[in-house]
Amino acid sequence: MAQEFFEWKPEYSLNIIEIDNQHKKIIELLNQLYEAFMKKDHHEKLGSIIDELEKYAVYHFGTEENYFNKFGYTGKVEHVNEHARFKEKVRSFKDDFNKNKGALTFTVINFLKDWLNKHILIDDKKYQNLFSEMGLT
Ligand SMILES: [Fe+2]
Repeated sequence: MAQEFFEWKPEYSLNIIEIDNQHKKIIELLNQLYEAFMKKDHHEKLGSIIDELEKYAVYHFGTEENYFNKFGYTGKVEHVNEHARFKEKVRSFKDDFNKNKGALTFTVINFLKDWLNKHILIDDKKYQNLFSEMGLT
């Protein structure tokens, strides 16, 4: 199989199936976006992937944030701010795209990849121990 734009690596794993699966799904959507972009697919197709990516990211952040509340995670505020920053970015990319289809660029797609890569490896890793101690596997 050809190399994916964003490859899942074992180091992304938090050893929590629900969260890992959600991260994999977001990565998959980002790969779909990249492929559609490279193939110069129809704007409707690109638009629908962007919508799905946005919706799924919001759903995923909600999952994490519910656990932050449930487990009294001390890093919650900082982490939730990061989620808000990402949601804001995606929303503005979407608005730009809806106004001007040329606004979706490789730079935008790369930003999403970089953000996600760092977020999982740095920010999500910080709650990993707490979530494990609370019994998530
Ligand atoms: Fe997160």
